[in-house]
Amino acid sequence: MSSYTSGDRLTYSEYLRLTELLDLQSGEKGCTREINNDETHFIIIHQIFELWFKLILSELRCARDLLMGSHVEESKIPKIVQHLNRVTEICRLMANQWKVMETLTPQDFLVFRDKLGTASGFESWQMRELEILMGLKNNDRNKGMDPLSHYRKLADENPIYLQGLNQLEKTIKEPSLDDVLQQWLERTPIQGSFITDENDQELVNDFVNEYLDAMIKLNKKSLEITSEHSSVDKKTLEDRFNANIKSAEEYLRPEGETNRSRAGLLFIEAYRDLPLLAWPRKLIDSFVELEESMVLFRTHHARMVERIIGRRVGTGGSSGVDYLDATTKYRIFKDLWGVRTILIKNSALPPIKNQETYGFSNK
Ligand code: HEM
Repeated sequence: MSSYTSGDRLTYSEYLRLTELLDLQSGEKGCTREINNDETHFIIIHQIFELWFKLILSELRCARDLLMGSHVEESKIPKIVQHLNRVTEICRLMANQWKVMETLTPQDFLVFRDKLGTASGFESWQMRELEILMGLKNNDRNKGMDPLSHYRKLADENPIYLQGLNQLEKTIKEPSLDDVLQQWLERTPIQGSFITDENDQELVNDFVNEYLDAMIKLNKKSLEITSEHSSVDKKTLEDRFNANIKSAEEYLRPEGETNRSRAGLLFIEAYRDLPLLAWPRKLIDSFVELEESMVLFRTHHARMVERIIGRRVGTGGSSGVDYLDATTKYRIFKDLWGVRTILIKNSALPPIKNQETYGFSNK
């Protein structure tokens, strides 16, 4: 029998290990001094976030594992969506949790801020891990920051960081959610053509060409209408509309070659009413919602920080609010955001071919 059980019945507090949990708010290891109510609040909020991060990591891994592999059963998609939706809801809750933090006044915080020294949420390895697991690249971070080299430096200074470093080193070797999503999108049947079909490349290129032609036609019309009523001169407008087409071409054919994953994504978004695309489209929406909720979580953090410490330097030594605002520009699932710019109305879409591929399946 484990030392946690009393008699045969597992108790509420044993199951949740409440005694240990409620004993973890001392502020520092072995501290016997009483901490004040505001500091207890500060610690509890941080601990709650870290617990949410822990759950987010496990949900993201479940979603990633289900979406990984060369074939994903359609029946698995609802489960993946469920994992992603749970993370989204946690992020929404966390975004609101900053409100509780904001009940700490700037003066209340100053009472114990010095005690933190250089300790900062910047050192949260779970936060870095979830960014890496989702697929955030160092080049897309503020000033190309490399979390691993930051963590190596921390671990050199203090072995307490080895746990975080090991975790990050392990995670960076794993496929990210963005990796598996792109691989899955690449296999989307486009106009009824499968990636394994002999003439797939030709058919996908045809689809991309037809789509771009449809965009060009629409653009021409929009330019005529806009230039009639706009205060912007025709040449500037023309440049803007042409840039739109150019960016669509670059999106679909980076370096001249069709990107099948983006073409597949465009196909799902464009023909989203087709029955067989219902779950794929839901999956994509879940990724977008997840990233949006993450961005809002970051944004609310920055606003809370601005309210409590103004524009001063963070305890981690960053520029503080400016740094946090820069992180709100991060986008991981860039293609999902990018495709939105090139969507066109249903009535202008190239006609759908091999529609039966996307009908209800009797299997
Ligand atoms: C009074 C409350 C808080 C203030 C004033 C504050 C301030 C800051 C500042 C200034 C930074 C930038 C890094 C630095 O130079 O320190 C930062 C980063 C961070 N904070 Fe907070 N924070 C607060 C509460 C929290 C809480 C409750 C959490 C929950 C875990 C948290 C998590 C983070 C994370 C994860 C980062 C890294 C963000 C990134 O690099 O993307 N913070 N915080």
